[in-house]
Amino acid sequence: MTLRLRPAQVTDLPSIYQGEQAYIQRWEPAHETAWRLQLERHLRRWVDNFERLTVALIDEQFAGYALWTAEQGRAELCTIHVSERYRRNGVGRTLLDRYSADALSLGFTQLALSVRPDNPARYLYEQAGFICTGTGTHDYLRYQRCLVGGGCA
Ligand SMILES: CC(C)(COP(=O)(O)OP(=O)(O)OC[C@H]1O[C@@H](n2cnc3c(N)ncnc32)[C@H](O)[C@@H]1OP(=O)(O)O)[C@@H](O)C(=O)NCCC(=O)NCCS
Repeated sequence: MTLRLRPAQVTDLPSIYQGEQAYIQRWEPAHETAWRLQLERHLRRWVDNFERLTVALIDEQFAGYALWTAEQGRAELCTIHVSERYRRNGVGRTLLDRYSADALSLGFTQLALSVRPDNPARYLYEQAGFICTGTGTHDYLRYQRCLVGGGCA
């Protein structure tokens, strides 16, 4: 298997939409209707942050993506997704590492993200050095990682 990352292209949007839909249906089924009603807002966020949207390809097939945004001086991971058939092959970790490297190259020293407490994605973050700092909106866990010494402010 050959894994390659590249910046997103407009033609990736249908696959990204499918990934987001799969996430909602798996983890937030009660919010699927609300999510659909806000599709225009989601699309706006993907487009507004297009340069921070990275796609993973395995053997040139779409395998996953990650999107981050700048939020209050931090690089916030908005979404990360790997197609089911490619999971546990290091794709998620590779996307996470690229997000970290891209954020650092743009001067961000703090990474942050939210995750449901029952989503095993948290183990990916913990393995990558993210520290749980408490609970945020909707009881999601907040995680941070500092890219320089001295700890997060
Ligand atoms: C979370 C997700 C992106 C992980 O992608 P992945 O490519 O499978 O992750 P990796 O193979 O890079 O995993 C690296 C390490 O993270 C940890 N990890 C990842 N998924 C895990 C799981 N389901 N259970 C336990 N540990 C896990 C493991 O330590 C793993 O190393 P190992 O496979 O050698 O044990 C993927 O499961 C996914 O797309 N989930 C649905 C979308 C989602 O929930 N996104 C997160 C929203 S906050």
